[in-house]
Amino acid sequence: MSERKVILSGMRPTGRLHLGNYLGALQNWVKLQDEYQCFFEIADWHALMSDYKNPSDVCEFGFDMACVWLAVGLDPERCVIFRQSDVKEHLELFFILSTITPLGWLQRCPTYKEALENLKESEEIRNYSFLGYPALQAADIALYRANFVPVGVDQLPHLEFTRELVRRFNHLYKTDIMVEPNEILNKVDKLSGTDGRKMSKSYGNTIYLTEEEKDIKKKINSMVTDPARIHPTDKGHPQVCTVFNYQSIFSEDEKDEIEKKCLEGKIGCVECKKILNEKLSGLITPIREKYKEFKKNPEKVNNILEEGNRQAAGQACKNLAAFKKEMGYG
Ligand code: TRP
Ligand code: SF4
Repeated sequence: MSERKVILSGMRPTGRLHLGNYLGALQNWVKLQDEYQCFFEIADWHALMSDYKNPSDVCEFGFDMACVWLAVGLDPERCVIFRQSDVKEHLELFFILSTITPLGWLQRCPTYKEALENLKESEEIRNYSFLGYPALQAADIALYRANFVPVGVDQLPHLEFTRELVRRFNHLYKTDIMVEPNEILNKVDKLSGTDGRKMSKSYGNTIYLTEEEKDIKKKINSMVTDPARIHPTDKGHPQVCTVFNYQSIFSEDEKDEIEKKCLEGKIGCVECKKILNEKLSGLITPIREKYKEFKKNPEKVNNILEEGNRQAAGQACKNLAAFKKEMGYG
């Protein structure tokens, strides 16, 4: 058990989880549970940095997110699911790491610069905590002495930051107690939004992992197809079609045939969408049903989280004590 390599990953509870979260993370997390000792964190402090105006939403999304995690198959018997803010050691290590973090590292962090540029309401995130985002993430990872962190490419700068900070700690205190983590890059199939644009909550072009049957149908029906195609017998261009982007990911067994038929004008878009609808319903229905069960039993979920918090804290407490000892900070 203790021989297994350690994995830590997290997600910010900022909204309902959608298909992109499944493909980009959860699908992989579920697979990693047996091979590694896994810690999966509801990164609520990270969410609060940008959503501080709605703290109760952060709490609610966090609980909701745990229900979805359990519904997709994260198994509390095989992994530790916990809430960042409930394991107090995160902030303690965050502070210790802050003292050895050069300000320039934070200011130069590409995700920080991008966030400042992108968000029109950038004033909103010009708060003190947000600058320290990567240092808190480094604390999350270092605290469990994680060997691997499953993430998407967008998180690579944070991982590099973590490695640098870990090296700095070890160098400064002449130790090797902190572990330099490596990424496990989530294999991602690029899924676009239902309108063909980038998938984003704010565009309303996502399909949720707990989407109701009729809404899945509605969203698929409103998807844009090949605009040059008017009659079902017209030759289509699947490469420019959003429905085909989805087919190629969710209908792996049929995608070649669909592509061929579309190119030859032998399948209509209505029929094509029907196939996609069946595939997505097949994926989402069991998740939604399990999710609803968990939502109906909040005590059960709270018990799971409490147990997860307890296990995470056990590990965190032990490691933090060892770090402080190495620092000579008794
Ligand atoms: N920053 C990550 C994201 O936005 C979430 C996160 C917080 C995380 N702490 C982490 C990811 C630790 C991996 C490891 O997706
Ligand atoms: Fe797109 Fe399918 Fe229509 Fe081809 S048949 S254009 S792949 S929806």
